[in-house]
Amino acid sequence: MNKPTNRVFSGVQPTGNLHLGNYLGAIRNFVGLQESHECLYCVVDMHAITVWQDPAELAANTREVAAAYIAAGIDPEKHIIFNQSGVPAHAELAWVLNCVARIGWLNRMTQFKDKAGKDREKASVGLYAYPVLMAADILVYQATHVPVGEDQKQHLELARDVAQKFNNDFAVPDFFPQPEPLIMGAATRVMSLRDGTKKMSKSDPSDLSRITMKDSAEDIAKKIRKAQTDPDPLPETVEGLAGRAGADNLVGIYAALADKTKAEVLAEFGGRQFGEFKPVLADLAIERLSPITGEMKRLMDDPGHIDAVLRNGAVRARAIADPIMARVREIVGFI
Ligand code: TYM
Repeated sequence: MNKPTNRVFSGVQPTGNLHLGNYLGAIRNFVGLQESHECLYCVVDMHAITVWQDPAELAANTREVAAAYIAAGIDPEKHIIFNQSGVPAHAELAWVLNCVARIGWLNRMTQFKDKAGKDREKASVGLYAYPVLMAADILVYQATHVPVGEDQKQHLELARDVAQKFNNDFAVPDFFPQPEPLIMGAATRVMSLRDGTKKMSKSDPSDLSRITMKDSAEDIAKKIRKAQTDPDPLPETVEGLAGRAGADNLVGIYAALADKTKAEVLAEFGGRQFGEFKPVLADLAIERLSPITGEMKRLMDDPGHIDAVLRNGAVRARAIADPIMARVREIVGFI
């Protein structure tokens, strides 16, 4: 079997409230990798159900993520867009890898600790095993590169450890590649607009904390206007952003949207007040996001088309995963 050297895999959970962090930290980078890589972009519906999802909403949110992929510029003909539950090999490999990964490894996962909160005993078993399913997502395609935001770094380290332990335990050196994280751009960790020390997230109770991919131009302008900052003008240098989380966040967002570095943005805006900077940022955000949100709306009006894209993608994904999974079965000793 020929091993790929430039296969990209990544995923987004269909849990609603797709936001600017998902776009800048992940989806936008997915688009850029299409020229140089063979890409599989997954809507990870099986990950979503690790916390309760209303079934009708899960289906709608799955279509929404698929629409965001397409609207952002991923070509579903040249590359593969599909939903995770459409390819049973993810779940099958996850079980095998559950038996390779160690409890101690999972106990160190900070995302589980955050999501499970104080009442860990009541979290689903799926939430705990979540990173192993994520490793399976990547390894079932022998993917080599994984574009993600900063918050997924620890999960990718686990995927690398699982790959290596499988290769060692079964004496199949290099069977699973060591997937490489691609954490790219000026906004690898977009923060909440209400609190610059907290990550922008789908589950924050405050709508003002995030710009979503459904927001109108007015919503975007309002959220940026209300974004938490401080009374000082923008600093002249990146060092001057230290200890100013809200300011740092807005400069990072501007930099990512404008394809600039933070230093370049500060060279332009250093010394100006937020009252001046925020409307310019709002205009840029609207200019970049509105075509995508508009196209998403158009696509969402034709769910049949999205479902066809996902089904077609799943067939093509299965064609890659099935032979790799068949080899895993042999390696493990399943007859
Ligand atoms: P999810 O659905 O939480 O987020 C999707 C992608 O968006 C990135 N992201 C952010 N980037 C910058 N700033 C933020 N505030 C921000 N919030 C989210 C995430 O890093 C991610 O890249 N476990 C994954 C989904 C997944 C996956 C995979 C990813 C499942 N299997 C295999 C890669 C490979 C997750 O929950 O992403």
